[in-house]
Amino acid sequence: MRTARGSLLCGGLIALVSIAVALCCLRIEVLCRAFTFHSHRPVGSMEKNLQLVRNIIPPLTEKKHKGQDGKIGIIGGCTEYTGAPYFAAIASLKVGADLSHVFCTKDAAPVIKSYSPNVIVHPVLDLSSGVEDVEKWFPALHSMVIGPGLGRDEKVLQNTKVIMEKCQKQGIPIVIDADGLWVVVQDPSVIQGYHKAILTPNVVEFSRLYNAVLKSHYNECNHSSNLLQLSQALGNVTIVQKGEKDLISDGSTVLVCSQQGSGRRCGGQGDLLSGSLGVLAHWAFTAGDEKTDGLNPTLIAAFGACALTRQCNHQAFQKHRRAMTTSDMIAEISTAFNKLFES
Ligand SMILES: *[C@@H]1O[C@H](CO)[C@@H](O)[C@H](O)[C@H]1NC(C)=O
Ligand SMILES: *[C@@H]1O[C@H](CO)[C@@H](O)[C@H](O)[C@H]1NC(C)=O
Repeated sequence: MRTARGSLLCGGLIALVSIAVALCCLRIEVLCRAFTFHSHRPVGSMEKNLQLVRNIIPPLTEKKHKGQDGKIGIIGGCTEYTGAPYFAAIASLKVGADLSHVFCTKDAAPVIKSYSPNVIVHPVLDLSSGVEDVEKWFPALHSMVIGPGLGRDEKVLQNTKVIMEKCQKQGIPIVIDADGLWVVVQDPSVIQGYHKAILTPNVVEFSRLYNAVLKSHYNECNHSSNLLQLSQALGNVTIVQKGEKDLISDGSTVLVCSQQGSGRRCGGQGDLLSGSLGVLAHWAFTAGDEKTDGLNPTLIAAFGACALTRQCNHQAFQKHRRAMTTSDMIAEISTAFNKLFES
C-alpha cells in the first residue's frame, strides 16, 4: 500500500515537473518567435531590397568586352573537397561572371578541371610559392571567394591567411566561407575593419566566430542582436548569418532575407551562395551611389545572393523533392535569376 502510494506520488511529481518543463519550453519558443517576427522586418522590405539588387546588375550590351562583368577568384579545393570550389566557380559564371579562376592544391586540380571546361584551375595553394602564384593574378581579378573546400592543412591555411591580407592591401572584395572562416576564428584580426569583406557563416560557424571574437555565448533568442554585436566587434565587417531566414548585417543595418526555399538542405548550397556573392559584390561595389540608394554595397550583394540561393532551392525542390542536390540547384540559377531580378 505504502509503495503504491509512494509510486503514485512519485508519478504525480514527475508529471508536474514534465508539465512545468513543457510550459517553460513553450514560453521560450513563443518568446523566440516574437523576436524573429518583430525584429527588423518592415513590410515590403523584401521587394524593396530585391529592387536594389536589380539596380546593381550591369545591363548586357554588345559593347562590352570579355571580363568586364566579373573575373572571380576562388581560393579552395584540396584532396578531400573538390565539389565545393567547383560549385562556387560555376555558380559565379552562371550568375554572370565572365571568368572564374580556382586556386586549389596540386592534386585537387585535375579533378576540378575534369568537372568542367568552363573554369580555369591553378594547382598552387599548397606550394611554398602559393601566395605569389595567386598574387600575380590579382590585377586580373575583381573579387575573391575564400574557403570553399579549403580543408584544414596548415600550409594551405597559412597561405590563405596571407592571401586574405594581400587582398585587403589591393582593396579586392572578399567573401569568406567554410574553412576560410576557420582562418578568421584562429585570428580574427586578419579581417578586422575590412569593409569589403563579407563573411557567410552557417549556424555552427557563426557560434564559433562569436565565441572566438566576443568570448561569450550568444543570446539564443535574439539573432539580430548577436549579429550586430559580432559585426561591430569585427569593425563593421559584413556578416551573412545563414539559417531559417538569412540575416545580413554591416554593424548598423540588419536585412532579413526570407525568400521561400524548402526544408531540404543539401551540402554545397553554401558554395552556390558564396560563388554568386563573389559576382554580386563586384557589381555592387562598381554600381555607384545612385544605384545603391545609400545602402552599403555589401548588404545589397549579400541580399541578392541569399535570395537567389533560396529561390534555386525552392525551384529544385519542386522538381526533385527529397532527391534534390546542389547540382539540381545550379541548374535552376538561370530561371531563378530571371524570375527574381529580370522580370
Ligand atoms: C533584438 O536586438 C535588436 C538589436 O540589438 C534590438 O533592436 C531589438 O529590439 C531586440 N529585440 C528584442 C525583442 O529584444
Ligand atoms: C560600426 O558601426 C557602428 C554603427 O553605425 C558605429 O557606431 C561604430 O563606430 C562603427 N565602428 C567602426 C570601427 O567603424
